[in-house]
Amino acid sequence: EEWKERGAAVSTRQEVDANGRPVSKVVKKGVKDFNFGRTLGEGSYSTVLAATDRQTLREYAIKVLDKRHIIKEKKVKYVNIEKDTLNRLTDHPGIVRLYYTFQDERSLYFVLDLASGGELLGTLKKMGTFDEECTRFYGAQILDSIAYMHSRGIIHRDLKPENVLLDDKMHTKITDFGTAKILGLNGGQDGSRPAGDPMDGAETDRAVSFVGTAEYVSPELLTDKNACKASDLWAFGCIIYQLLAGRPPFKAANEYLTFQKIVALDYTFPDGFPEVARDLIERLLVLDPAKRLPIDHIKNHQFFDGIIWGKGLWKQKAPRLR
Ligand code: ADE
Repeated sequence: EEWKERGAAVSTRQEVDANGRPVSKVVKKGVKDFNFGRTLGEGSYSTVLAATDRQTLREYAIKVLDKRHIIKEKKVKYVNIEKDTLNRLTDHPGIVRLYYTFQDERSLYFVLDLASGGELLGTLKKMGTFDEECTRFYGAQILDSIAYMHSRGIIHRDLKPENVLLDDKMHTKITDFGTAKILGLNGGQDGSRPAGDPMDGAETDRAVSFVGTAEYVSPELLTDKNACKASDLWAFGCIIYQLLAGRPPFKAANEYLTFQKIVALDYTFPDGFPEVARDLIERLLVLDPAKRLPIDHIKNHQFFDGIIWGKGLWKQKAPRLR
């Protein structure tokens, strides 16, 4: 009852009827249609496995969520948010795409794009820092993906280098929409869900309780308990800083001290930090979200000089990491 299937994800299968005539049947994908492989990642409620479609041999990442655990820990609404947001974000190369969902008695399955390069954080840790060219390239792709999300009315709210994956071409794919916010979802009363749906009020509840990862949390979330589109741009500023410096701007011994630094805008740039990048970050790490540089202005900032925005960005060859 809790796991409603909307917008059935289907494929066709060729069969023969009683008279030996070929017929094409519409069939929903299920667990049996995939060969499961190595573990790609593990969360508290899910495991991501590499998998191959037995018919097409296409590779995917399948997120397997444990139903009992999710119900017990009251995380049903987050699972629904993840599915709903991914279903709104199916048309951008920089966002992990959801192809099918299905379930069996024990688990829910989300069939996603495989990002074989793993987390951007892993690559950054291997390199220590990125140079300006690499930061510009990865930063531009992340920003283009944020622009798309926001244009579709979705705030991610937990952007960080762990949630930016890399594909086989070293292009970025944003993942983990379990804590996203769907704008215009006034307690589920906007017609996007049937009346009496268990998701009613989910967003209103969470808007006051959710805090993302400490180091990337925006000051408005800490002071007003309210996230907006500009909150993702704060996190974006933290990510650009981290790619160039090798560490996030606000980092302390514990969450509480990190939050204190954030609300006091207590951060510094390391010696030799590129001047143009510094200017951009100083316009993003601004306490008042209304005064943060909007996306169009970020795209036109000198730091992104040379970037061709739009579809071409995703056809460009990734620079050699250095
Ligand atoms: N880890 C978590 N999600 C993943 C994905 N879609 N591809 C590769 N690794 C992942």
